[in-house]
Amino acid sequence: MSVAGWALNDSPEMDEEQFRLWRALLENRTGMQLTEQRKRFLETSLCKRMREVGCDCYGEYYEQLVAGTGRKREWAALVDHLTVQETSFFRHLSSFSLVRDTCRERWSQGHGSQGHGTREKNATIELWSVGCSTGEEAYSLAMLLDELHFECSQNESNEVDRKDFLQNARFGITATDISLPALSKARDGIYNVRKLDHVEPILREKYFSRVDERRYQVVPQLKERVCFARINVLELSAVPFHDVDIIFCQNLLIYFKRWRKKDIVNALTDRLKVGGLLVLGLGEVVDWEHPKIVRMPYENTLAYTRIK
Ligand SMILES: C[S@@+](CC[C@H](N)C(=O)[O-])C[C@H]1O[C@@H](n2cnc3c(N)ncnc32)[C@H](O)[C@@H]1O
Repeated sequence: MSVAGWALNDSPEMDEEQFRLWRALLENRTGMQLTEQRKRFLETSLCKRMREVGCDCYGEYYEQLVAGTGRKREWAALVDHLTVQETSFFRHLSSFSLVRDTCRERWSQGHGSQGHGTREKNATIELWSVGCSTGEEAYSLAMLLDELHFECSQNESNEVDRKDFLQNARFGITATDISLPALSKARDGIYNVRKLDHVEPILREKYFSRVDERRYQVVPQLKERVCFARINVLELSAVPFHDVDIIFCQNLLIYFKRWRKKDIVNALTDRLKVGGLLVLGLGEVVDWEHPKIVRMPYENTLAYTRIK
């Protein structure tokens, strides 16, 4: 059947062999597993993109993606239709509380003392949001850290220390995703007002400016704290990050096979600083052990600290 014959919301059913091929392609390239129940999602998402490029059938489009000219660009566009990008600001509150407590402890360490404690207190905290989607998670972390930075500096009693702290204490967030369109939206940092329901009014006031009736934009000072980049978690061996203080990876691994999840969390562990924190989504990894890592006893979270 040709694309012209499809009603707008109507996508033809693909046969079992086609489904097997598409499923394998998606899993090999993104790690995402497509269950039988998500076949309809695949058909609808493919048809949406095929209409956009004027392609007539699943087989022809498949060939275009694996062997056609411009296949890299087309794959980059398609992946956006096939990945689940649902996200929100401060999505899992307990995980954000854990990050806050951990960073507060770090920035308060050695308060008023010399030597190692002072170095820690002034240290830059490096965070990585893995599978950041359209940026809400990364900006939530940035708001949290910025607020905390201010709070810690207020708590400083010694005038000289406070000055040093304000000059030296920093944080940086790297936020990565496989989807270029999602990253582009993240960089724009423009969100519908409904999205801001999860942001406390005081933070909304401070970190967003109004674009129009319906939309708000993250202020440039906060944007500067976040660097967005395309990284496929199946290619972590090529990623030059190391000694990251906090890795935040939620609602990504749920779509992956068990062995892949383990490979990915092992690779993330290697990129964590000793003493660093790996924050996953509750229940997203089970039966995982690693000699360098211990589970953090923090309520309603799935998080680990690197111990060596
Ligand atoms: C459901 S969103 C989660 C967003 C955010 N972490 C949260 O918890 O709200 C999952 C994100 O993972 C991304 N993703 C899927 N496969 C990926 C891969 N192989 N490498 C990197 N990102 C991937 C998707 O593009 C999507 O933006």
